[in-house]
Amino acid sequence: MRPHIEPFCDRDVRFKNMRLPGFATGMRYKMLSFDPETGGCTMSVQLDAGYRQAPGFSWGERELTVIEGELQVGDRTCRKGHYFFLPAGYALPEVRSDKGCLVLEMHNTGEPSHEESTEHHPQAQVDLYHDVDSFMDIPWAMGNVTKPSVAAGCLIKLLNYNPISHAMTFLYCMAPGFWQDNISYHDCAEESYHLWGTSWMMQFGDIPTGGYFWRPAYINHGAFASEFGCIALGRTDSKLFNHFHYNPWSTPVENADRSLARIYQRDPLLYKWAFSKDHNHPHGPEDFEQTMKRRGDEDGHDTEHASDGHRHDHWHGHHHSDHDSPHRHPLDEPHDDHHE
Ligand SMILES: [Fe+2]
Repeated sequence: MRPHIEPFCDRDVRFKNMRLPGFATGMRYKMLSFDPETGGCTMSVQLDAGYRQAPGFSWGERELTVIEGELQVGDRTCRKGHYFFLPAGYALPEVRSDKGCLVLEMHNTGEPSHEESTEHHPQAQVDLYHDVDSFMDIPWAMGNVTKPSVAAGCLIKLLNYNPISHAMTFLYCMAPGFWQDNISYHDCAEESYHLWGTSWMMQFGDIPTGGYFWRPAYINHGAFASEFGCIALGRTDSKLFNHFHYNPWSTPVENADRSLARIYQRDPLLYKWAFSKDHNHPHGPEDFEQTMKRRGDEDGHDTEHASDGHRHDHWHGHHHSDHDSPHRHPLDEPHDDHHE
């Protein structure tokens, strides 16, 4: 697993020479995130003028995006915003940069490798290959690929979609003056590189051009804003669902419990068979949105300062005193709440 990297900006560190076997000279990299178990990583890479890489393939899945300058791939010239999805074993022709360029390299499944070859590996899933000039050849679309959605003014261009895992790679932009006032977390890891412009998050501050994050699941992020707008490349490693809330203090464990609670409430049979190992826990995991203390009038009384002297800080959908309840917990212990 890759650790949480955030905030981070690649402009704050220096390039190192790439010395792995198989790679041509004139390739320098900044490591943005790294998975010590698989060798998977994301790097911003400077290819010096005159760089030439012989035809060949990577042993792992790779995504390549031109950030600045021109990259020649075979007889094509690819400019900033050009995106390549390269399944493992997919051979590219000679890659050159006559004047030098900056690219973003994502190695999703294993360490960077280059096997010289003019043929694809026989087991490569060549049909998955695609490339596109994402700046020029795809229009911006509404950001609501998932619901509940980001606020209007955050637009996307979908670049890659895995129909099994629902992992996505996408370009996204925030319009100047964009803001979104809620807090978000996901059940997937989320990765972003700012190609241009600055956005802001309550927890991590400004992400400028060259800013990057690798954010594991369940970490709060947001509210969001961008004063002058930004364009970024984003990626998730599985299905993106926006769990929105307004509790800046919730922990990743509480956020994960809340995700599970939402499965428990929405798909109870799935929860029962998939998650409930020993017995069907009547409470299920905790959704802090439902159990947190709330201020103000709820059910006609002040929930924070109850008139009986006890705080109503614990919400349940059933009564503990109801001993006929099929939901009665076999390990029921005295609870410090007063719903009767
Ligand atoms: Fe997010």
